Amino acid sequence: MINKNDELIKRKEEAKLGGGLDKIDSQHKKGKLTARERIELLVDEGSFEEIDIFVKHRATDFGLDKQHYPGDGVITGFAKINNKQVALFSQDFTVFGGSLSEAHAEKIVKILEMAMKIGVPVIGLNDSGGARIQEGVVSLGGYADIFLLNTLASGVVPQISVVLGPCAGGAVYSPAITDFIFMAKSTSYMFVTGPNVVKTVTHEEVSFEDLGGAETHASKSGVAHFIYENEIETLTNVRRLMSFLPQNFMDKPIDVEFNFEDLFPDERLNEIVPENSNKPYDMKQIINLIVDNNDFMEVQSNYAENIIVGFARIGGMSVGIVANQPEILAGVLDINASVKGARFVRFCDAFNIPLLVLVDVPGFLPGTEQEWNGIIRHGAKLLYAFCEATVPKVTVITRKAYGGAYDVMNSKHVRGDFNFAWPSAEIAVMGPKGAVEIIFKKEISNSKEPEKELENKLSEFIEKFANPYIAAERGYIDDIILPKDTKIKLINAYKILKTKVDKNPKKKHGNIPL
Ligand code: HXC
Repeated sequence: MINKNDELIKRKEEAKLGGGLDKIDSQHKKGKLTARERIELLVDEGSFEEIDIFVKHRATDFGLDKQHYPGDGVITGFAKINNKQVALFSQDFTVFGGSLSEAHAEKIVKILEMAMKIGVPVIGLNDSGGARIQEGVVSLGGYADIFLLNTLASGVVPQISVVLGPCAGGAVYSPAITDFIFMAKSTSYMFVTGPNVVKTVTHEEVSFEDLGGAETHASKSGVAHFIYENEIETLTNVRRLMSFLPQNFMDKPIDVEFNFEDLFPDERLNEIVPENSNKPYDMKQIINLIVDNNDFMEVQSNYAENIIVGFARIGGMSVGIVANQPEILAGVLDINASVKGARFVRFCDAFNIPLLVLVDVPGFLPGTEQEWNGIIRHGAKLLYAFCEATVPKVTVITRKAYGGAYDVMNSKHVRGDFNFAWPSAEIAVMGPKGAVEIIFKKEISNSKEPEKELENKLSEFIEKFANPYIAAERGYIDDIILPKDTKIKLINAYKILKTKVDKNPKKKHGNIPL
């Protein structure tokens, strides 16, 4: 008789093979890792505690009664990343293409429910052909159960989705509800319907890559927040992201040790903004000089590049940075930039991550394309997000802060806590030329020398309004600072704000203009 302990070991070893060696081989040949290999790369060595390894599906149709794989195509459990607890699931493509059965869904739901009770982030490694076709409506129900839990967990614990295979149908909507989506180039795909269905319905011929590859979702749709060359790089960067995030909505922001002896005024910051205020410059230069160890983890770096968002540490404390990028479209706010910024601000606010807002913005982008597609509604998202955020909020205006965009970008009026400006700041209703052409229209057109009159009025306007002093006289700007002192000022500001408490009125939930 087989010893019962040996039997357990044997059963577990068999379960760990998922769909079997041939399927594992075929997974490797596609340039993909197995679900277990991925977990090993993601978590701290030896920290994975698996549950539900023996769960099996209950379906019997289409010969499923004869095909059983313990675990049913998804590995679930708990582990540590950077020595902090996380919950995770990893779909196993070697079992029915990682498709989602009733039992598979129940395993994921269990993990999500436990993660919420324990207060730990959830990481989902997705590699799935969607609803298990043989199980019909039961698998659709399973997806809906997951969507519900993803939604309930939203804002309670961070949820990270890593898409590492062809994710179709329902397999894309769970990631879409979560906070961040990672994809690996050439092996990750996300689409509601694949190229074959697209061809049947719309007669369009499109490749997997163009329809739903990592680069498409990083640059065209904005669905993917992070993309990397391969699975290893992707999983390494999931670990990196986790180093900036707290465990849950009640946790304090991560604050690591910082060597204050390394802190000094940085003269290089004085040289970045050009004299001519119409000349572009790269806001990322400023970010890299301000953040600790040049370590800025940019989110959606290839999408709506006129706004920059991402995580960093300043004086050891994790912060979320939102910055206009004067190098792209002069840093103007358009629909995509507004939506990108708004979602990031709301994530930071949900998880107590202080915000740093770097402003150089000429306004909202004019034109029919923007108006007809709803810049009013979408721009309002960013405004709403900053207005409702109660985390420590610090703003630095490096140059332009014009019009509605001045208000939006975490101005004092929307509860900015510390609002700083560099001497190069220009805070006005609109840019000098546009303003002068409107308010001095008659004087200029009636003048014998209109060009000269325009020049005169322009210098008068610039002298009066294109500076930070009027806003500072009103207290809209708390201090005008030398660029080189920015990091020191920010560290002090976040220290002062550490015990900040602010609340919004009691309500069920607000109604962000979606
Ligand atoms: C059951 C599935 C499956 C599925 C794949 N398989 N998808 N089994 N249900 N949804 C199985 C295949 O039969 C095959 O089994 C194995 O997984 C590997 O699949 P391949 O097709 O050989 O792999 P590949 O060529 O890499 O293509 C992967 C794929 C393709 C792109 C995912 O399989 C595919 O298009 N599948 C269907 C996708 C889809 O339309 N899903 C339903 C979505 S509807 P064997 O035994 O041969 O190895 C949905 C509704 C939810 O999800 C909506 C909620 C909002």
